[in-house]
Amino acid sequence: MKIITTKNYYDMSRKAANIISAQIILYPNSVLGLATGSTPIGIYTQLVKWYDKGDLDFSDVSTVNLDEYCGLPPSDSQSYRYFMQKNLFQFVNIKAEHIHIPYGNAPDIEKECSRYDHLIENLGGIDLQLLGIGHNGHIGFNEPNIAFEKMTHCIELNQSTREANSKYFGALDQVPQKAITVGIRLIMQARKILLVVNGKDKKAILEQALFGPVTPEVPASILQMHPNLTVVVCD
Ligand code: GLP
Repeated sequence: MKIITTKNYYDMSRKAANIISAQIILYPNSVLGLATGSTPIGIYTQLVKWYDKGDLDFSDVSTVNLDEYCGLPPSDSQSYRYFMQKNLFQFVNIKAEHIHIPYGNAPDIEKECSRYDHLIENLGGIDLQLLGIGHNGHIGFNEPNIAFEKMTHCIELNQSTREANSKYFGALDQVPQKAITVGIRLIMQARKILLVVNGKDKKAILEQALFGPVTPEVPASILQMHPNLTVVVCD
């Protein structure tokens, strides 16, 4: 595991964006696993800047997002599909057919989960997985549990996760109860993992995740077992 400590949010975003840029430049047809939440926004802003300068080309890149709220169509301003369009995809030359995000409003959620697993397998797996971490140690929407859920699945969101994300929705009762998330298997099979962590309030959970016991009660703790994990952190 490599831990890079940075001075501030801008520095964290830039250093993490550098790692993603290197991946795209060296392997233009990379499959990037992407994340949402407030933490990666600065990374996407930086990638767009480098794209505008002509330093990056997304034309052969494929992306697979980690998760999506159940019940929200891609056009909903709270959907993760919308978030990705707003923060990254609309600004770069990624091909629409190379963008993959679970359909939160799929009529058959179980079918959608297995479709998503197969899709990522057919792409050859994830080359670089970007992750944030929730206050309870969740990655994607893999919430604390009695066992690690391996496959893409539908999850009942914890109250604390819904409360944390209610700032985007305006009110807690607007936050969907469920989400689809990629499971631990495809995350751990990613060839590289880049975990970005911002804020003093994440210090304790990060400490537990990186140096505590590996337990499904802290889903991010499984990352200790990954052979190529980089953590970019700022407080
Ligand atoms: C959401 C996302 C996660 C993200 C987490 C932390 O629940 N599903 O992928 O890591 O929030 O978000 P933030 O970066 O806003 O703290």
